[in-house]
Amino acid sequence: MKLYIWGTGCGAGDLADHGLDVSKVCAFLDSAPASDSFLGRPVLRPEEVQNDDVDLILVASRYVDDIARKAVELGVNTEKLIFLKNNWQLCDRNWDYTAAEKILDPSYLDSIRAPQYAVREPLWVSESPLTARDLENDYVRMRTLEALCRELEGLPGAAAELGVYRGGFARCINLLLPERKLYLFDTFEGFDAAEAKGQAAGFVQAHRNTGAERVLRLMPHPEKVIIKHGLFPASLGGLEDRFALVSLDVDLEESTLAGLRWFYPRLNPGGYLLLHDYNSPRLPGVKRALRCYETELGQHIPAVPLCDGNGTLVLCKSD
Ligand SMILES: C[S@@+](CC[C@H](N)C(=O)[O-])C[C@H]1O[C@@H](n2cnc3c(N)ncnc32)[C@H](O)[C@@H]1O
Repeated sequence: MKLYIWGTGCGAGDLADHGLDVSKVCAFLDSAPASDSFLGRPVLRPEEVQNDDVDLILVASRYVDDIARKAVELGVNTEKLIFLKNNWQLCDRNWDYTAAEKILDPSYLDSIRAPQYAVREPLWVSESPLTARDLENDYVRMRTLEALCRELEGLPGAAAELGVYRGGFARCINLLLPERKLYLFDTFEGFDAAEAKGQAAGFVQAHRNTGAERVLRLMPHPEKVIIKHGLFPASLGGLEDRFALVSLDVDLEESTLAGLRWFYPRLNPGGYLLLHDYNSPRLPGVKRALRCYETELGQHIPAVPLCDGNGTLVLCKSD
């Protein structure tokens, strides 16, 4: 078989570590080669390869758009291309990996073929307790939650979500922190009517469409869940606890401010508060609430913005 590998970077090196017999590779391809050989095989520019001389090209680079465009430009039969890296697009360019199965370790292919969405790296993917359905919800948000939960090891404190709706995010917290108490605060019948005045009718109506029992059924560890039903902060009912992780997701300014005032001082040093919608242009009250809280506090809270679906800000707590 006339086999080529497109790429001479870490991805290509990875193939050699996962079953690829480099001696069977005719050449590596690179549009801007840094040297004329890689792993003892020649490196060619893609235009130097004759289409008829190719049986299979494994693409071991993340620049899949560029490479696909270039291949079409050069008249390469794209059925001969198998894209192994896909860290940006939402679906695979190719679904048939059969030809690559004969060349690489099956476990390597299993991990790269998993239907995760954007940013796939074999080690991460194979270890994740989150399901494809969890990730589909908002990949960056869920993966960040997963990474944050790992950082919490050894840190005391409960977890909480204020603004649970149907429990999609709460389910992931419960799954990733199975040993921790998880407080779930919501009216389970939408926003406070006075606070939601002026909001679009569909937005308000949609948030009524949930229920505490249905949320509880979704939880993988329901025995750890404490439902706090009703309007926050009245729903606290004298609760006193400390927290390692809080998700604050109530969309509107007044409730967000109430959540910050209550939860941030009770966050243990090293803990995180995920402020959902902070960068959402549709919900500007969230950012206003944080600015107002910082003014009250007399300090800027260290935080990391995420590029997730709704512009979460992760607030950190130091000693
Ligand atoms: C955007 S949804 C939460 C979505 C959920 N965090 C998720 O990611 O799946 C906002 C929720 O906040 C709740 N909410 C808003 N203000 C509240 C308040 N003051 N007290 C209790 N719940 C509130 C609403 O009932 C609604 O269910």
